[in-house]
Amino acid sequence: MIRLFIIFILIISPPCLADATTRPPEQTHWSFATPLGTFDRSAMQRGFQVYKEVCSACHELSHIRFRELSALGFNDKEIKAIAADYSIKDGPNDEGEMFDRPALPGDSFPNPFPNEQAARASNGGAFPVDLSLIIKGREDGANYVHSLLTGYGSAPTDITLFEGKSYNPYFEGGQISMPPPLVDGQVTYVDGTPATVDQMSKDVVTFLSWASAPELEARRQMGLKVILYLIVFSMLMYFVYRSVWRNVK
Ligand code: HEC
Repeated sequence: MIRLFIIFILIISPPCLADATTRPPEQTHWSFATPLGTFDRSAMQRGFQVYKEVCSACHELSHIRFRELSALGFNDKEIKAIAADYSIKDGPNDEGEMFDRPALPGDSFPNPFPNEQAARASNGGAFPVDLSLIIKGREDGANYVHSLLTGYGSAPTDITLFEGKSYNPYFEGGQISMPPPLVDGQVTYVDGTPATVDQMSKDVVTFLSWASAPELEARRQMGLKVILYLIVFSMLMYFVYRSVWRNVK
C-alpha cells in the first residue's frame, strides 16, 4: 500500500514541481495554424512594420534577406527602398577600412548591435535573441510570443522585482529584462487598422511565424497536390483493375 502511495506521489509530483511563476500561453486563433492555413498578407505587412519600427532596435532577424519580403506582397522597387533604409557594415576596401553602405535586396537584416557584448551592455546584461526562428524555437511559439508581448502587468505583492526587470507571467520565472515594447498607438498603420497592443502583437507574431517558416505555404500546397494526385491515381488504377479482370470469371 505504501509503495502504491509513493508511486502515486512520484507520478503527480512533476507538474507540482513545475515553475509556478510561469503561466502557460493564452490560446489565439491563427490563420496559419490550421493544416491548410495561409498567412494573412495584410497582417504580415503590418507585422513587418512593427518589427521594423519597434523590435529591430534590439532584436536581429538574421535569417531573412530583404529580397524574401516579396512573400509579403512587396514588389522589387519597394524592397529596394526598404533595404536602403538599413545600413550594412562592408569591407575592407582597398585601404583596408571597413565602411558603411545602404543595404541591398540580397543582404540579410543587419544586427542592431555590433556584437553580443554590446547587445547585453545596452540591455542590463540580458541578450535580445535573434527573432528569425523564435516562433519555431519555443514551444507553442505563436501563442507564447503573443502572450508575452501582451502579458505585462504590475507584479503581485509577493514578488519582488530585480532591478531592471519587468513583471511578465509568461516569461520563465515571471521577470523579464525586456521593458514592455508595445503601447497603444505606437505605430501608425498605413491601412488604417487601429494599432492596439493586441493588434500589433498579433501582426508581429504573424510576420515572425512566416519568418520562422517561409516555406510553409509552398510545403502545404505541395502536400495537397500529392494527395490529389494519389486520389486520381488510385481511381485510375481501380478502373484499370476492373477492365483487366472484366472477362475473367
Ligand atoms: C529595448 C530593447 C528591446 C526591444 C525594443 C524589444 N525587445 Fe524583445 N527582448 C529584449 C531583451 C533584452 C530580451 C531578453 C529578456 C530576458 O532574457 O530577460 C528580450 C526578449 C524577447 C523575447 C523572449 C525570448 C525568449 O527567450 O523566450 C521575445 C519573444 C521578444 N523579446 C520579442 C520582441 C518583439 C516581438 C519585439 C517588438 C515588438 C521586441 N521583443 C522588442 C529587448 C527588446
